[in-house]
Amino acid sequence: MNNIFLSGGSKGIGLECLKKFSQNKSKVVFTYTKALEKNFFTKNNLDNKYVIPFKFNSLKFNDYKKINIFLKKNKISKINTLINNVGDVLKRTSFEESDFNLWVNSFNINLFSSIKLTQVLLPYIKKTKNSSIINVSSVAAKTTGSPDSLHYGVAKSALNTFTLGLSREMSIYPIRVIAIAPSAVNTNFQKKYSSNRRLKKIINKTSLNRIAEPYEIANIIYSLSNKDHSYINGTIVEVDGGRLA
Ligand SMILES: NC(=O)c1ccc[n+]([C@@H]2O[C@H](COP(=O)([O-])OP(=O)(O)OC[C@H]3O[C@@H](n4cnc5c(N)ncnc54)[C@H](OP(=O)(O)O)[C@@H]3O)[C@@H](O)[C@H]2O)c1
Repeated sequence: MNNIFLSGGSKGIGLECLKKFSQNKSKVVFTYTKALEKNFFTKNNLDNKYVIPFKFNSLKFNDYKKINIFLKKNKISKINTLINNVGDVLKRTSFEESDFNLWVNSFNINLFSSIKLTQVLLPYIKKTKNSSIINVSSVAAKTTGSPDSLHYGVAKSALNTFTLGLSREMSIYPIRVIAIAPSAVNTNFQKKYSSNRRLKKIINKTSLNRIAEPYEIANIIYSLSNKDHSYINGTIVEVDGGRLA
């Protein structure tokens, strides 16, 4: 059985990854911070034989010390795929009005949490064949993001550079390192940060004339992790429904 470690698996893209991997009989450890709904497993059709929740806050560096103990307790000694999914815009604001702390927090959640998790889990990933690390980036890394989120675009662009550099270093094992860069996806994230007007603008610039559904991103992550795609490495896979100029 393949073991997956997924950061941020209780909602949005992460939740769809959790469903996809576990329904295909991978064991998935997923992180979350807020209490899970009582009927989380039944509502999402999840089999607790394959799904292991881990209350863990990516922003609390002390929480990283719990990982080894948690994995040992759950008899997990190797990981086939790490999905660094946690990320957030945190706040929309212009550069001029942005507090320096927002930049620090944005780098913590969008970049350093993935670097730290990768460092802690690397010994487990090195133990498996055909393993992969998939970082969830954003088209904002290239486009600088929709207005008032430069802190997010810059952090995601650093995540892309991390992906490329790490893929070169990890090729000796080999561990493939890939980033997926979606444009707008229909999750809480958009409900929190984008007005209908903003979303309409994005849709008008998209040839498929809609935003993505989270399962569509999860399907690609699942596919990229598969050893059938063993020659995809160091790539930033853009998923934007076809951008009109
Ligand atoms: N949605 C989009 O339009 C879009 C577009 C491009 C890229 N992305 C990227 O896709 C990724 C997922 O976004 P999403 O839209 O699926 O987000 P989402 O719906 O807000 O879900 C975020 C998930 O991460 C967990 N999480 C948040 N903060 C955490 C923390 N500090 N520690 C551990 N878990 C934490 C949440 O659990 P709790 O609620 O329990 O904390 C939740 O399961 C992010 O990296 C985002 O930047 C999203």
